[in-house]
Amino acid sequence: MDSMGQAEWARDLARDLLETTLPRRWAHVQGVAAQAESLAPILGDDADILIAAAYLHDIGYAPGLVDTGFHPLDGARYLRDVVKADARLCRLVAHHTCAVNEARNRNLFDALTTEFGEERPDLMDALTYCDITTGPDGQRLTATERLAEIHARYGPDHLVSRSMTVSTPRIMAAVRAVEAALSDVRQAGTG
Ligand SMILES: [Fe+2]
Repeated sequence: MDSMGQAEWARDLARDLLETTLPRRWAHVQGVAAQAESLAPILGDDADILIAAAYLHDIGYAPGLVDTGFHPLDGARYLRDVVKADARLCRLVAHHTCAVNEARNRNLFDALTTEFGEERPDLMDALTYCDITTGPDGQRLTATERLAEIHARYGPDHLVSRSMTVSTPRIMAAVRAVEAALSDVRQAGTG
C-alpha cells in the first residue's frame, strides 16, 4: 500500500470489520473520521493518516479480532501482524485516547508500550479530540458530554470509567490544544 490514500483503504477495512457485526460502532467510527476530516486545516499532509487512524481506532472491537479484550492493543496487533499496516497507523491506534491508562488497569501496560511506541503528540492529541467529541452513534458531542456518556454507559466502578477518570486531564488538554490550533488557523484565514 502506498502512503497516499490510506484514508480510503482504512474506511473500506473498517467497514468490512464493523458494519455488519457492530453497526453502532461503525456509525461512531464514521463520525470520528468526519471530525478528523474537519481538522485538515491544521493537519496538512498528516490529514490522510489521521483520517485513516480514525476509521481504524476501534477495529479491535470486531468479534474476529478480539484477543486480549483490550481493543486498542487487539486492533493495533491486527494492523501490524495481519494487515501489515504503516507503523505510524499502528501506533496511533494502540495509543488512542490515552489507552495507556486503561492498559495499566488491565495489566497490559508493558505489552502495549513495548510493542507500540507513541506517535507524535500533536497527532495523538488530534485523534483523542476526534474520538472524545464524537458520541456512540457518531453524533457531535462536547468532550464533557462525551465523558459523561462514557461514565453513564459503563457505570462508575467499571475499569473503563476509572481509566477515563485518570485520563481526563490529558484528554481535556488535548481538546484545548486542538481547539487553539483551529482557532489560530481561522484567525490567519480571516486576517
Ligand atoms: Fe472511538
